[in-house]
Amino acid sequence: MLAGMSQWLTLSRAAHLLGISRVTLQKRIRDGELRSFDGMVAADDLQRTWPELNLEDSGSFEKTRAIREDAFARRLRERVLPTQEALAQRLFAQGQELAELQRTLTRYHTLFEALRARLGVVPAPTADELARLLDEGLASALAAPAPPADVAALDAMLRIMSAHVTVKPSGREFFVEGSETLLKAALRAGLAPNYGCGNGVCGLCKARVVSGEARAVAAFDYRFSEAEKAQNHVLMCACTAHSSDVVLELLEADVPADVPEQRVVAKVRKVEALNGEVMRLHLQTPRSNRLRFLAGQRVTLGVTGLAGGSDLHAEYPVASCPCDDRNLIFHLCRTDRRLASADFSQAVLDGRIKAGDDVSVWGPWGSFVLEKDSARPLVFIAIDEGFAPINSLIEHAIAVDAAESIMLYWASSRPGGQYLPNQCRAWDEALDEFSYRPLALDDLAAALAANTALPASGVYLAGAAERVEPLAKSLLAAGMPPQQLHIEAL
Ligand code: FES
Repeated sequence: MLAGMSQWLTLSRAAHLLGISRVTLQKRIRDGELRSFDGMVAADDLQRTWPELNLEDSGSFEKTRAIREDAFARRLRERVLPTQEALAQRLFAQGQELAELQRTLTRYHTLFEALRARLGVVPAPTADELARLLDEGLASALAAPAPPADVAALDAMLRIMSAHVTVKPSGREFFVEGSETLLKAALRAGLAPNYGCGNGVCGLCKARVVSGEARAVAAFDYRFSEAEKAQNHVLMCACTAHSSDVVLELLEADVPADVPEQRVVAKVRKVEALNGEVMRLHLQTPRSNRLRFLAGQRVTLGVTGLAGGSDLHAEYPVASCPCDDRNLIFHLCRTDRRLASADFSQAVLDGRIKAGDDVSVWGPWGSFVLEKDSARPLVFIAIDEGFAPINSLIEHAIAVDAAESIMLYWASSRPGGQYLPNQCRAWDEALDEFSYRPLALDDLAAALAANTALPASGVYLAGAAERVEPLAKSLLAAGMPPQQLHIEAL
């Protein structure tokens, strides 16, 4: 009955529409600002809570429009179809008409339910009473004021521009923007699907289309067996969603052991100084040979035949997110105390390893990854360059949008040691659920002791071993459950 009186949207679709996180919506539901029914949220409440919502202000719409504009062939756009703007306007107008029709149907449905309820009450209504109820009901239904702006029309529009995919058996969800591939969209949303070449050759990204439709947007060499064809298998790296809702069955990595060891030759794209101490090394893998890893993991970097004929290799945490598997970022420190990596870091810093050079990447290693499907608040503690794996974890946590709050402490052993302060402040300002606290290393223990939410949180601590290990001991001694404390000692 409740579901019939209003339009309802899934939480993920409403969050996508508003360009906010699901946890923000969940908080509004808990606070009683939004009605929720069976995992859905009322469109009327969204409209009332965000009255300024409109098509032009929707970040999702802007992004989708940009992707669509890129994807359209220029000639087709100019000679055959109206302009993108005209199409968007017409689609929006049609969405409004559809939404008005849906509202009218909802009002008639409510009237019908009221009449049926009356017919079930003894004594049965007379013909006069029925006529009166009908007249009053129709008058009230037709007089119902329309909402000032239209969530439903915008939702209808976005259903055309971006498809919603549900994954089985995990139940995770993601949106496919424009004609991007299912694989790219899944990685962007923080999922860890099984895949290999990313290029239509290996077949590892096979998924079964349970419902809806997916179509190829790129050529592929992999040949499906007759059984795979009969079961509706597609390659995620070559297909996009064709219908607005798709259900896929696919393999996902749940733990680090699910990700195979790989060896990739990448190129140095850029070496960038972040401050006097830290450099950012950008590597790019070939299109056909990307690195699959989980956020927070490490890899080994190696170069051969440097000046003087020497070979170097060293292990570093990947500082970037697995959602961009071609562009790998590492933070290298001038004062790296780790013997194994000091020589490699020095070679980058003094220009012996430079843009255009080949670097072997193998891995991934380590189990400093987010707890799968945990909804616990997240607390990240980075000490100096321990920020590198924390950066990867935070980007991933934001993408999967599962934690109700994210707290970042970044402690530095030297003044100004937080070498990416603007990025951390931007997270803090842009995300309701994110808080950032830079501090001196000497103040860290007291700040953690004052955080009463710590024992109920998932805590991720990274930095030099001699700093991380004593801090971990003191957290455990203070009652932190060991299974909730994750440590990366560099
Ligand atoms: S990842 Fe190899 S075919 Fe898709």
